[in-house]
Amino acid sequence: KPRVLSLVQPTAASLHLGNYLGALRQWVPLQDDHDAFYGVADLHALTVEQDPKELRQRTLRSAAQLIAAGVDPEKSTIFIQSHVPEHTQLSWILGCLTGFGQANRMTQFKDKSARGLGDQASVGLFTYPILMAADILIYKADRVPVGEDQRQHLELTRDLASRFNHRYGRTFVVPEPHIVASVGRIGDLADPVGKMSKSSSSPAGIIELLDEPKINIKKIKSAVTDSEREIRYDLEAKPGVANLLTILSALTGTPIDALVESFRGLGYGDLKGAVADVVGEVGGAYRERALGLIEEGTELEGILAAGAERARSIAAATVAEVYDKVGLLPR
Ligand code: TYM
Repeated sequence: KPRVLSLVQPTAASLHLGNYLGALRQWVPLQDDHDAFYGVADLHALTVEQDPKELRQRTLRSAAQLIAAGVDPEKSTIFIQSHVPEHTQLSWILGCLTGFGQANRMTQFKDKSARGLGDQASVGLFTYPILMAADILIYKADRVPVGEDQRQHLELTRDLASRFNHRYGRTFVVPEPHIVASVGRIGDLADPVGKMSKSSSSPAGIIELLDEPKINIKKIKSAVTDSEREIRYDLEAKPGVANLLTILSALTGTPIDALVESFRGLGYGDLKGAVADVVGEVGGAYRERALGLIEEGTELEGILAAGAERARSIAAATVAEVYDKVGLLPR
């Protein structure tokens, strides 16, 4: 079976609707015909300052949310990044193959460091894409299901895999990004030209799936649209309406054209009502499952322990192979 891998950062109390539609929901069908590795990138979260107690909670809550979204521990290996220390070992080797200029071209670092941190941005934030490449390459993953914002990091990953293979002989799989165009970039509800984002959205712009449904319904009803009245899909002229149609289409499985047809003669209030209903429905079940797993605790811990063990067995073999190829002296 081909392999698939993807992680989420535990940087908020809840994952948001963009994470769910762009990533988690794409992970679920892939686990049926792939050897799937899904997890929580807690080391990546440390690239910006975190409260230690909160980070631990968020890591566990994120793992619960993968399962709530439909990742099945019977089919997929679910693990916490820091439980597999080989990721950081491989990251060092890959860092030594990455040109400073190449790392410096990563736009996410530029965006994040420009947003307030400036010179105070950590070296970890700068090298973050190299650790991400290690996460992927260490399992020799064939496909990586992510949102559009990770595309450049995937390109770096592919480049590093090829460079290593070229220099040391065929070792890594060059992974393919798996980005679903229709949901690869869910917009911010309050500022629909921007993406929904843990780090840059205002509270009004982001649907956190573990929030009380009534909070999210309110946010959807206040979503920014435009001064026309017509419901049609036009990303340029009507980004707010297009975003609502995208969300509704993704959650109901109804094509956008059919939705537009069904809203003919109706207003934005009707569209928002329909989105609120389906987000409430999907979010309610998700929330109940995640909170149940968090509350109960031991089942989740068992899943993560088994996941770490399976992940480590593969990661350790790759690191041994890589250490040998680059010329490190065996113990
Ligand atoms: P993170 O935690 O920011 O986001 C998790 C996933 O959600 C996707 N996503 C979105 N998709 C659509 N619309 C949005 N508005 C939106 N916002 C976020 C992201 O693209 C991502 O797929 N660097 C990664 C985590 C990571 C990783 C990895 C991913 C670490 N190692 C290895 C894949 C493979 C990140 O920060 O994702």
